[in-house]
Amino acid sequence: MSNNILKHLAIIMDGNGRWAKQRGLMRTKGHEQGANTIRDITQYCAEHETIETVTLYAFSTENWKRPKYEVDFLMRLLDRWLKQELPTYHRFGARFETVGNIEGFSPKLQETIASIKEQTADHTNVTQILALNYGSRYEIAKAASQLAKRGEEITEDSLGRELNTPYQDIDLLVRTSGEQRLSNFLLWQLSYSEFYFTKTLWPDFTPMELEEIINQYLHRDRRFGAVV
Ligand code: FPP
Repeated sequence: MSNNILKHLAIIMDGNGRWAKQRGLMRTKGHEQGANTIRDITQYCAEHETIETVTLYAFSTENWKRPKYEVDFLMRLLDRWLKQELPTYHRFGARFETVGNIEGFSPKLQETIASIKEQTADHTNVTQILALNYGSRYEIAKAASQLAKRGEEITEDSLGRELNTPYQDIDLLVRTSGEQRLSNFLLWQLSYSEFYFTKTLWPDFTPMELEEIINQYLHRDRRFGAVV
C-alpha cells in the first residue's frame, strides 16, 4: 500500500456534445447537464478529507473556434450558472477561483466572476478553480517573458512562481469521454501527476466513479523519478 495523498485534483471535462448527440438533443443541452456534474463533483471534493483544490477545464483558448452560437451559449450559461450556484458554494464551503485570461470575456461576465470570487473568498473546505479562456503554452510563455522583461533569471522556481497558477502541483488528472490527450491544460503543473482516462461522458460522470478512480490512485506507486 502506498502513501499517496490527494490534495489537488484536476479534471478535463469532455463529452458534453456526444452525450447530447446520443440523445438527439442540441449540444447546448449537454453543456447544461455538464454544469450539474460540476456541482456534484465539487460537493464530493468539499466533503473529501484531503482534497484542497479541484481545477476544472471549462473553456480553452481554442474553444473560441466553436460555432458562435455555442460560444455565446457557454458564456451565458457560465454567467447564469455562477449566479445561481452562489448558495451551493456557500453550502459546500467552496471557494471559487479562476485561471486563464478572463479579460477576454464581456465586462458583465467578468463582473459576475469577480463577485462570486469575492463572496466565496473565506470558504475553506475546497477551492474550485475553473480554467476559463485558459491555454498552458500561453501561460508559460507569458511568465517567461515577464521574467525576461524584468531582467530576472529564468529558473524552475522563478518560472513556477510567475505562472498564473502558483497553486500546489496536481496529484491526479482525470479526463472523461475516452480521449487521451492534454489539450494544452496545465502542462507545467501536471509534470508529476498521475493520469486517469475514463470513457464516461462528462454529464454521466458521478462522485461514485470519481471515488473508484481515487481509490486506484491511492494504490499507485508514485516515485517522482526516484527509485523507492
Ligand atoms: C467538453 O464537451 C466540454 C467543454 C466545452 C467544457 C466544459 C463545459 C461545461 C461542463 C459546461 C458548463 C460549464 C460551466 C462552468 C457552467 P464537448 O463539447 O467538447 O463534447 P464533445 O467532445 O462530445 O463534443
